[in-house]
Amino acid sequence: MSDARNDRTRNPFSLEGKTVLVTGASSGIGRQTAITCAARGARVILTGRNEERLQDTLSRLLGDGHVTVVADLTQSTDRDRLAQISPQVDGLVHCAGMQKHCPIRQLTEQGMNDMYNVNFLAPVMLTQRLLQRSAIARQGSIIFLLSTAAHLGTRGVGPYSAMKAGLIGIIKCLALEQVKHKIRVNGISPSAVATPMWGADQLEAQKARHPLGLGESQDVANAAVYLLSDASRWVTGTSLVMDGGSIL
Ligand SMILES: NC(=O)c1ccc[n+]([C@@H]2O[C@H](COP(=O)([O-])OP(=O)(O)OC[C@H]3O[C@@H](n4cnc5c(N)ncnc54)[C@H](OP(=O)(O)O)[C@@H]3O)[C@@H](O)[C@H]2O)c1
Repeated sequence: MSDARNDRTRNPFSLEGKTVLVTGASSGIGRQTAITCAARGARVILTGRNEERLQDTLSRLLGDGHVTVVADLTQSTDRDRLAQISPQVDGLVHCAGMQKHCPIRQLTEQGMNDMYNVNFLAPVMLTQRLLQRSAIARQGSIIFLLSTAAHLGTRGVGPYSAMKAGLIGIIKCLALEQVKHKIRVNGISPSAVATPMWGADQLEAQKARHPLGLGESQDVANAAVYLLSDASRWVTGTSLVMDGGSIL
C-alpha cells in the first residue's frame, strides 16, 4: 500500500491533487459534478457543446488550473481533439447524454442513431481515445452516468434504456481489462434528478414515485466524488443505483 494510502490523517474522500475530466459540464449533473470536484480539490477539465454555459460553470469553480473544451462528442474529430488537448487525468466522468420520449412503435432510424451516438458511442469512444493515449493515470477512475432505466422497463424510453444498459456491459468488460493498471470503472444509475433534461410538468409527475423526493444534481455529484476518490479504491465493475426509494 502506498504511503499516501497508509496515511491515516489523509481524507480518503479528498480529490486534492487529482485531475478530473467531466463531460456534459455545461448543464445539470455534469455542471454540479465539476463544481463539487473542484470544491474537493480537483483540477477540472470541463467539456460541453455550449460555450457560454461552459464558461458559466467555469466561473463557479473554486481553485485554479481548470480548462474548458467545447466539443460535440458525437463527432470523432472533436473526441480526438479533446483527447489530444487533455492532460493525463485521474478521473473521467461521462455525464453528456440525452433523453427523448419515443415509444418503440414510433421509432425512426435517425432517432435511434441519435440516441446511440450521444449516449453510447460518444462515451465509449472517448474512453478508448484517452486509453490509447495513456491519458488515464494508473489508479484512475472512470464513471459512466447510467440511469435506473438501464435496469428496469419504463414506457417510452426504450432506446435510451438500451443505450444505458449497453454501458453496463462496457463497464464490466473495461473494469476487467483495466484492473491491471488499477484503473476502476463504475456507473451511477439515478432515477429522476431535477435538471434541464426534464420539463417542469414531467418532474412534477415523477414526485409521487419517489418517497425520498426527487434527486438533486448534488446527490449524484457526491456519489461521483466517492467513486473518483481513494475511498472507493476496492470498487470496480459495478453501478450505484440512486432511486430515492422508488425501489427497483
Ligand atoms: N436528470 C435525470 O433525471 C437523469 C437520470 C438518470 C440519468 N441521467 C443521466 O445523467 C447525465 C446528465 O443528465 P442531465 O440531467 O444533467 O442533463 P442535461 O442537464 O440536459 O445536460 C446534458 C449535458 O450533455 C451535454 N451533451 C448533450 N449532447 C452532447 C453532445 N453531442 N456532445 C457533447 N455534450 C453533449 C450537454 O451539453 P450542451 O448543453 O453544451 O450541449 C449537457 O451538458 C445524462 O447522461 C443522463 O442520461 C439523468
